[in-house]
Amino acid sequence: MSSTIVLITGANSGIGFATAKVIACASEVFHVIIASRSLEKAKSAMSEIEAAGIKGHLSTLQLDVTDERSIEQAVALVTQKFGRLDVLVNNAGVGSREPDVKSRFQRCMDTNVIGPVLVSAAFRPLLLKSQKPYSIYVSSVMGSMAKSSDPNSPTYRGMPNGEAYRASKAALNMVALQESIVFSSTALKVFAVCPGFVRSNLRGPSEEARSGWGKAGDPQVSGETILSVIQGERDADVGRFVHADGVYPW
Ligand SMILES: NC(=O)c1ccc[n+]([C@@H]2O[C@H](COP(=O)([O-])OP(=O)(O)OC[C@H]3O[C@@H](n4cnc5c(N)ncnc54)[C@H](OP(=O)(O)O)[C@@H]3O)[C@@H](O)[C@H]2O)c1
Repeated sequence: MSSTIVLITGANSGIGFATAKVIACASEVFHVIIASRSLEKAKSAMSEIEAAGIKGHLSTLQLDVTDERSIEQAVALVTQKFGRLDVLVNNAGVGSREPDVKSRFQRCMDTNVIGPVLVSAAFRPLLLKSQKPYSIYVSSVMGSMAKSSDPNSPTYRGMPNGEAYRASKAALNMVALQESIVFSSTALKVFAVCPGFVRSNLRGPSEEARSGWGKAGDPQVSGETILSVIQGERDADVGRFVHADGVYPW
């Protein structure tokens, strides 16, 4: 049986880690490439997931989405080892809210927008060699223009210095939409996915921040949403901005 090769960026932590685990536990069909900007962190994530008992296979890859040389080398390694890619999950992201406006915009745009654009462009030839390729962008409802402009929506209220992150996710949504339109004549299925508000390092390293002040859910649920996408269960919503229970307006 031929494997489904899945590459997840930022898979050493939070949602990326949980998604790698959910997918690797789901079936022997999956080979998950744990991509991380630190190979050491990727290896330690791989050991932790393997210890949980998996059905599929895992490997690691150094990939810093803001470093073109790192992206180039990652593509070369995946080409050499697998010759194609079936699923690309652009998950790596930062939630910078630092006080300096230029710094936080640069950081959010570099990692959350330009990074995924470069990663997708570099891996697309490998994705287009797959019979059932999926391109997934881990976005956020905070980037939905429709939700953000609705006073009745919980996402209406802004957080101090939160605009850079939200603008980066709005831009990422456009990246996903454009890719789905431009490549609609190919087999590529593109999705923007909101993973929900879940435990991770995104908001900072303290327990308070990691748990979203006690309100964040389990990132395993985010992993299950992404698994449902790559198993074709959300194909009716291809080219859209999906979440666990439905579709968000852009
Ligand atoms: N958690 C939530 O409630 C939530 C809600 C909506 C959307 N999201 C989105 O979910 C995605 C994953 O975030 P998370 O919540 O799981 O946070 P996280 O625990 O901080 O994970 C982010 C991951 O991205 C990696 N990363 C950051 N910069 C990178 C770079 N330049 N190159 C490669 N990897 C890089 C981090 O690596 P290091 O460990 O080396 O820093 C980490 O592995 C993000 O796109 C985020 O915007 C999260």
